[in-house]
Amino acid sequence: MKIVATTFTGLEQVLKKEIENLGGKNITIHKRAVSYYGDKTLLYKSNLLLRTAIRVLMPLTDFIAEDAETLYQKVFEIDWTKIFDVEKTFAVEAVTYSNTFRHSGFVALKTKDAIVDRFREVYGYRPDVDNKEPQVKINVHVRDTFFNISLDSSGEPLFKRGYRVEQTIAPMNEVLAAGLIQLSNWDQQTDFVDFMCGSGTIPIEAALLATNTPSQFKRTYFGFKHWKNYDKALWDSIKEHYVNQINKDIKPLIFGSDKDREAIAIARKNAQSAKVDDIVKFRVMLMQKLDLPESKKHIIINPPYGIRITGNLKELYSKIGYVLKRRFKKSTAWVFSNNPGLLTYIGLKPSRKYIIKTGALEGHFYKYTIF
Ligand SMILES: C[S@@+](CC[C@H](N)C(=O)[O-])C[C@H]1O[C@@H](n2cnc3c(N)ncnc32)[C@H](O)[C@@H]1O
Repeated sequence: MKIVATTFTGLEQVLKKEIENLGGKNITIHKRAVSYYGDKTLLYKSNLLLRTAIRVLMPLTDFIAEDAETLYQKVFEIDWTKIFDVEKTFAVEAVTYSNTFRHSGFVALKTKDAIVDRFREVYGYRPDVDNKEPQVKINVHVRDTFFNISLDSSGEPLFKRGYRVEQTIAPMNEVLAAGLIQLSNWDQQTDFVDFMCGSGTIPIEAALLATNTPSQFKRTYFGFKHWKNYDKALWDSIKEHYVNQINKDIKPLIFGSDKDREAIAIARKNAQSAKVDDIVKFRVMLMQKLDLPESKKHIIINPPYGIRITGNLKELYSKIGYVLKRRFKKSTAWVFSNNPGLLTYIGLKPSRKYIIKTGALEGHFYKYTIF
């Protein structure tokens, strides 16, 4: 069967590599998505293990519809009663890039009507819609007049890993953090440092990667568990197999620090919940005061940014440059910022640049090699 994993713009190559490692066949890269072929085992593994996927979709059908009536008919043609039980709750999520169908809410409503009517025709009654916590989630993607109707096997986006117990004001998205770590080509041997770690997302994701911990080991809800073809024994055995592969005996130090005491308290709680509190060392520390032992480090930081470049931020970025040059000789540093203008104040020449888009925000991810 065909599987489509979605991601952020700029992480498609990383996601492709992850899917290759899982054994996906006929992999194709799309905008914000990667499609591939595999069986139910691969679908379950994809949900459990893919660190840079936001959703894992299973396409049901695609078609061209110029009007709402055709959309309704095409959705009605799918035998929904074979896919999920009438007792399950469901929701439809529509994404539209279309002049003909401008309103995603309308597309979702028409799709929902067709599904409900199909059930009613067979049973005389219909499944309930629950837009907050549906058991079954259906995804509609429209480009112009081309529709893709898929089942969302994840249900909830996969950045909701289940380990975040508390958050700071602007925590990094887990999928983005995992993507940055993989884009940066961390060898998982060199000591890893985030000296502006906030709620700890980057070091926690680094620890999950290095310890071979499945990204979703904590999550219990997945959309596919509510499908008629759910194979509980298969899911349980896949999960058990990969949880048994977790290896806490790793070489590198994984370190996170921040000047904000409260942020570090939150980071510690999140690491404990992610069961990597014995792996990541957190410290409250102003970056200018850091005195880590001198050795090669792999650094990823996500400094504060503002839409406008203010004096304070200019100063902060130039201090980052100073700290990198003084305290992290021979290291590799990657800086992620939504404001590329600020990155110039670091005063080092980037040797690599990536752009990752998360919704409306464009993130710039620069590599600096320090001598
Ligand atoms: C955008 S947030 C990082 C968010 C983080 N990646 C997360 O997932 O929660 C930037 C962080 O830099 C910290 N920070 C700002 N200036 C600092 C400094 N001079 N030394 C250490 N940390 C600093 C802030 O306290 C804030 O937590």
